[in-house]
Amino acid sequence: MASEKINIAVFVSGGGTNLQALIDKQKSGVIKSGEIKLVISSNPEAYAIKRANKEKIPCEVISKKDCLSQSDFEDKILALLKKYNIELIVLAGFMCILSERFTSKYPKRIVNVHPSLIPSFCGKGFYGLKVHEAALAYGVKVTGATVHFVNEIPDGGEIIMQKAVEVCEGDTPETLQKRVMVNAEWIILPQSVEKVSKQIKELQNK
Ligand code: GAR
Repeated sequence: MASEKINIAVFVSGGGTNLQALIDKQKSGVIKSGEIKLVISSNPEAYAIKRANKEKIPCEVISKKDCLSQSDFEDKILALLKKYNIELIVLAGFMCILSERFTSKYPKRIVNVHPSLIPSFCGKGFYGLKVHEAALAYGVKVTGATVHFVNEIPDGGEIIMQKAVEVCEGDTPETLQKRVMVNAEWIILPQSVEKVSKQIKELQNK
């Protein structure tokens, strides 16, 4: 049916400010082709869980250390995705790597936000504050954020949107992280989610 929205799951591990940006932009109508139906946290302590609860969005915790293996971890996630009929997965500060076995089941149906301009400061070992530490250590004058599709290569999938952010004199990893979030991530992640949701809807209605 042409009017139906795409069912979205957001995967989180920490503070969940990107989840919050998605919730806010869904409310304000920037995201109109999809709806967040499920939040999955890899961390039982994540503040993101409180954000989901406040909005009454179903939230499930799947902690890797409670799983027998990577496959067991991914099978538990896959079962939830099936249960909630999820069509698009958004990695919003999700600090676990998903194997090819998982990503190949959702080609162009998983998006990730990364806090640098890919291909700089990305791939295995580059996550969270570490990305900004590396950017400052290198001395780049411009950094930013990237939203991309997720495939078997960490941070290697097709780029959907990027936004540049200036590095300022005296920046610390924390001040740079905040500027990249406010001026790039919280803007291009919701925009990308709408763009991809709209594309999926159009494909379904063909
Ligand atoms: C964000 O900066 C996100 O881009 C980054 O972690 C932070 C999570 O913050 N993700 C990665 O580094 C993934 N490689 P949040 O929990 O407040 O959204």
